[in-house]
Amino acid sequence: MQILHSRASLREALSSGPRPVLVPTMGNLHAGHLALVARARELGAPVIASVFVNRLQFGPGEDFERYPRTLPRDAHMLEQAGCDMLFAPDESEMYPAPQTFHVLPDPRLAGELEGASRPGHFEGVTTVVLKLLQLVQPSAAVFGKKDYQQWMLIRAMVEQFALPVRIEGLDTVRDSDGLALSSRNGYLSPAERASAPQLQRALRELASRAPACADLEQLRQAQAQAEQGLRELGWEPDYLSVRRRADLQAPARPEELRREAHLVVLGAARLGRTRLIDNLEF
Ligand code: PAF
Repeated sequence: MQILHSRASLREALSSGPRPVLVPTMGNLHAGHLALVARARELGAPVIASVFVNRLQFGPGEDFERYPRTLPRDAHMLEQAGCDMLFAPDESEMYPAPQTFHVLPDPRLAGELEGASRPGHFEGVTTVVLKLLQLVQPSAAVFGKKDYQQWMLIRAMVEQFALPVRIEGLDTVRDSDGLALSSRNGYLSPAERASAPQLQRALRELASRAPACADLEQLRQAQAQAEQGLRELGWEPDYLSVRRRADLQAPARPEELRREAHLVVLGAARLGRTRLIDNLEF
C-alpha cells in the first residue's frame, strides 16, 4: 500500500490508472471502517482511504485535541484489508491557508439533530469532503450510515453541485451486543461500555412503538419517554427522533408512521464524557 502525505505525491500516484474509490476517515480505525474498504474493493477500482482529523468539524470544547491519532496502526489495518493507497495529509497540507471558503449546507437538512447539537459541524464535514473529492477525484466514495445525517448531506451536496462521484452508504457495523462501532467507543470506561447498547435498545423500542402511535402527539410523547428512559439510566440525551428517510424531516401525517421502509429513528446521547450517536431504519 502506498502512503501519501502530500497533495503532490497524491497527484503523482493518481496520474495514471482508473479513478479510485475513496473511503474518507478520521482514523482510529475499527471493523466498521474495514467494512467500508471491503465495499470499496467490490467496486473494482483501486481503493484509497484518507485519514485526516478535520479541525473544521469540531466545535469549541469538543474532542478535537483528544481524538485518537493512530496512523501506524491504521495504515497496518488498511494494508491488511487490501487498501491500495492511504492519503494522510497533515493540517498544513490540507489547509495550507486558513480555509475561508466553506460549504454552506441546506439548513433544513443540516440545522437539525446533529446540526442543532453541534453548530457548524456539517459545514466543516461538507467542506473537507468536498476538498477530499477534489483532491482525489474518485469515481465513488463510501460512507457509513451510522452517521446517517452526514451521509444524506454528502449525497445532497454531490447532487446539488453535480460532482462526478457516486456516494455509497453502508449499513452500520455493530458489536455482538448491538453497540454501533465508533472510534469514540474507546473513550468509554468498562462500566460505560457495558451500558452503551442501551442507546440502540431505546431506538429499537421507539421504532417498534412509532407505528402504533395514533397521531403525531403520541409520537412526540413516545420520543420524550424514550429520552426520559435514557436519562433514568444515567444518559444525557440530545435527541431521539423519528424522521423520514427521504429528507430527515419529522413525519407530517400519522399515516406515515405505518408506511413500510419510510422512516429512520436517530439518537444522540452522552454517557459520561462520551457522546454516542446511532440510528435505525424502519
Ligand atoms: O465520518 C467521518 O469520519 C468524517 O466526518 C469524515 C467524513 C471523514 C470527514 O472528516
